[in-house]
Amino acid sequence: MADGCSRKRVSLWGGGLVLVVLTGVGLWLAEGMLRSAEPGRRFPPIAPKLAPHVPKILAAPAVQPMPVEQAPQAAPVDKTSYAPVDTQEDFQSVVQRMQAQKPEILRRHHQLLEERYDLSNRPLPGATMSRGKPIQAGPRVKLPPGVTWQQLAEMTPEQIKQNGLWPKGFLPLPHPNHDEGGMLFPQHHIDEIKRQEGRDLTRFDLDYDLPEHFLPEFPPAIYLTTRPDLGDVSRGQVVTLQNYFQLFNGILNPKQLEGLRLLLTPFPQQQFNATDDRRSLKPSQGVTCFDCHLNGHTNATTHLLGDIRPQAFRPRLDTPSLRGVNVQRLFGSKRALKTIEDFTEFEQRAAYFDGDPVIATKKGVNVLERGSQVHFMAEFMSILDFPPAPKLDVFGRLDPAKATEQEQLGEKVFFGKGRCGECHPAPYYTDNLMHNFRTERFIQPHLVNGHMMAGDGPIKTFPLRGVKDSPPYHHDGRLLTLEDSIEFHNLVLGTRLTDQEKEDLAAFLRCL
Ligand code: HEC
Ligand code: HEC
Repeated sequence: MADGCSRKRVSLWGGGLVLVVLTGVGLWLAEGMLRSAEPGRRFPPIAPKLAPHVPKILAAPAVQPMPVEQAPQAAPVDKTSYAPVDTQEDFQSVVQRMQAQKPEILRRHHQLLEERYDLSNRPLPGATMSRGKPIQAGPRVKLPPGVTWQQLAEMTPEQIKQNGLWPKGFLPLPHPNHDEGGMLFPQHHIDEIKRQEGRDLTRFDLDYDLPEHFLPEFPPAIYLTTRPDLGDVSRGQVVTLQNYFQLFNGILNPKQLEGLRLLLTPFPQQQFNATDDRRSLKPSQGVTCFDCHLNGHTNATTHLLGDIRPQAFRPRLDTPSLRGVNVQRLFGSKRALKTIEDFTEFEQRAAYFDGDPVIATKKGVNVLERGSQVHFMAEFMSILDFPPAPKLDVFGRLDPAKATEQEQLGEKVFFGKGRCGECHPAPYYTDNLMHNFRTERFIQPHLVNGHMMAGDGPIKTFPLRGVKDSPPYHHDGRLLTLEDSIEFHNLVLGTRLTDQEKEDLAAFLRCL
């Protein structure tokens, strides 16, 4: 019988093993970093032309992973966890230097996007988001030359890794300038905020990268758990300080109104502040919570995750929707903070995702008062509802009277062969846990444009209710369509779905 004692021994053993492995990996990475002086060094493409070899790969006996010494790797060293507080270069010279570098940085990043994805504007006939924006047909991740999705699904992770066959679009997506990072807004949002408020969210050093047809609709609808009878209360507007009172007075209680006002109030932070350490041409009043969580949803503003150092290991982030945030128990893809209040408070105290209270203080930290500010903001966020899903019943399952045959077949795959329901259970399609897909099984760590291509570690299970409204997908936005997410899961879960099952599954996901 496994008594407490022997269980402890087992876990000690496990702990020791983990420690040894981690130390090994750490030493190997550190050595690699020290050897590479060149920041942002590029690696040769890892997927050679493989078409004729696919049958051989599939027939070959299980291969041993490449010895660690041979693995291509290198990362720039961050000598310190801290950003410089006392910047010496004068502002005009920073602007000139970064503007001169901008075209090459953007060219390099667009080349990466083109290499990874089919970026064309190809809507799926008849499929729209909640307010009517066409949904793009997928998958859009480009396959390595000569292999099909089915062939990839038949290979072992080792075969995929050994032969460099992991589709590049399944690798972590770098920030347009990963060494620099920071928040970056889509152009249509910048234009609208300038029009309404005269506040300029343009960065002089970078432009947003993903084409508009892959972004959530602009502006997105707002649904309230408190007033489902009203439907979309945004009335098609981007909610700002200019119009929130007119739109919400008489619908919200005074606490929620005050919370919403604070969510729409700009505060200084990293890229947008009034010091010379900023990325806006003019001193800036700052950003608001809803500059990213537009209308309580998302406009796909991007950033880097704050919890990791060095910079090369920080994943890019795609802003998550706050719709239905009330049913969630973990906040943030990695940190897994336990309350909405904690998340609300820390973002401003630690330089917005840079995890740096020192710099936040320098640029003008906004310490929110828990009882009367944080709490009110959380109260408003907590009444943001998922969009209506007319085909779902009260259990969050398809109503056979309303769903098509294909959607019902998709539901069967979701809860059966696809095993999706094990982590995404109805009615909200999240288990409120974190899971580790262990993508390092498929890739050799290597550096691309300053970002380390490595396993993602545990990530929170995002809810799938309303998921058709929030492309791009996964924590870093690396997947442009739901079909891409299905192909990705099919490989990491080893579920071997047929092409028909994948199509049915996508039709089901669009009902949620
Ligand atoms: C620069 C864009 C940006 C701004 C500004 C911003 N957020 Fe976020 N927010 C994000 C991103 C990106 C995440 C995901 C973080 C992660 O995965 O760790 C997030 C996550 C959250 C979450 C957790 C959601 C979840 O599903 O896990 C909450 C709650 C939240 N933000 C509230 C706020 C509040 C309140 C403010 C203003 C004080 C704010 N955000 C400002 C981009 C932003
Ligand atoms: C082992 C748990 C697990 C299983 C099984 C699973 N998922 Fe996921 N799913 C996750 C996690 C964790 C994420 C977040 C991944 C990330 O952001 O990198 C996710 C993300 C997603 C997303 C993107 C959500 C968003 O808002 O970006 C979709 C779509 C999705 N899953 C669909 C599916 C489908 C379809 C299946 C079945 C084929 C499935 N999942 C099976 C854990 C799981």
